[in-house]
Amino acid sequence: MCINEVNCIRHYGLKAYYNFRTFSDTAMEPKELAVYLRDLCKAYQIGDVEVEVLRGVNLSVTRGQFVAICGPSGSGKTTLLNIISGIDKATSGQVIVLGQDLAVQDEDFLAEFRCNNVGFVFQSYNLVSTLTVAENIAFPMEWRRKSEVEIEKRVAELLDTVGLKHRANHFPAQLSGGEQQRVALARALANDPPLILADEPTGNLDAKNSQKITQMLQMLKAQGKTVIVATHDPELVRLSDKVLRLEEGRLASCDE
Ligand SMILES: Nc1ncnc2c1ncn2[C@@H]1O[C@H](COP(=O)(O)OP(=O)(O)OP(=O)(O)O)[C@@H](O)[C@H]1O
Ligand SMILES: [Mg+2]
Repeated sequence: MCINEVNCIRHYGLKAYYNFRTFSDTAMEPKELAVYLRDLCKAYQIGDVEVEVLRGVNLSVTRGQFVAICGPSGSGKTTLLNIISGIDKATSGQVIVLGQDLAVQDEDFLAEFRCNNVGFVFQSYNLVSTLTVAENIAFPMEWRRKSEVEIEKRVAELLDTVGLKHRANHFPAQLSGGEQQRVALARALANDPPLILADEPTGNLDAKNSQKITQMLQMLKAQGKTVIVATHDPELVRLSDKVLRLEEGRLASCDE
């Protein structure tokens, strides 16, 4: 946030600031934005029951922005991140991520797109239990068929970054929650993606481990990556350029 923006907030208050941000973001071409969502709806059909989760979400995230998405349990934060990553499809609406219209792409394209462009830190880590820490981190690079030497170098680098060098050959079940979360973050960064989606990355952690993850996300922001986090953590909210709240299926500005 630059000094002009801070002065703008002081002068006009937070509400006016976020209205202004929303206005100026939408003035950009969708293809220039990291994420552009318009009238996004998502409903799940289970038997006779339709669960409407997202009911017209609009979101513009510029490249290099750090955005926090808050909202009560069940409000659709994970669903929204899944759609932005292409893991899940919207029922209707426009989803443009890094210039690609995800709504019209097939599964092969989406898998390739995710592997190259999106680092996803899952709410429940989703580490492969039969692979070691090093193998879990190497996984996205194997998918891209990178050379063994390159993979080894990058895994060592990432293990160092997340402070888990000594646990390289251990399995996920032998790690604490905080350690697994750090492996999940390292794996998300393996292919150096421009977009990081982190689903409550500090949700299950104690203060010390939360701080480690927060510092890593801060470092990614400093590197110019676009970061979107679903979170309730005040520290992550404080770091964010933009804070939004999911309420009744829509995104609203948030004064937290
Ligand atoms: N695959 C699915 N099939 C049916 N309903 C689903 C599915 N995935 C999510 N939902 C429903 O969508 C709603 C939103 O779920 P979601 O996991 O996105 O919420 P959340 O905000 O991430 O919650 P939490 O904070 O607890 O993680 C919930 O009511 C959930 O039951
Ligand atoms: Mg969730």
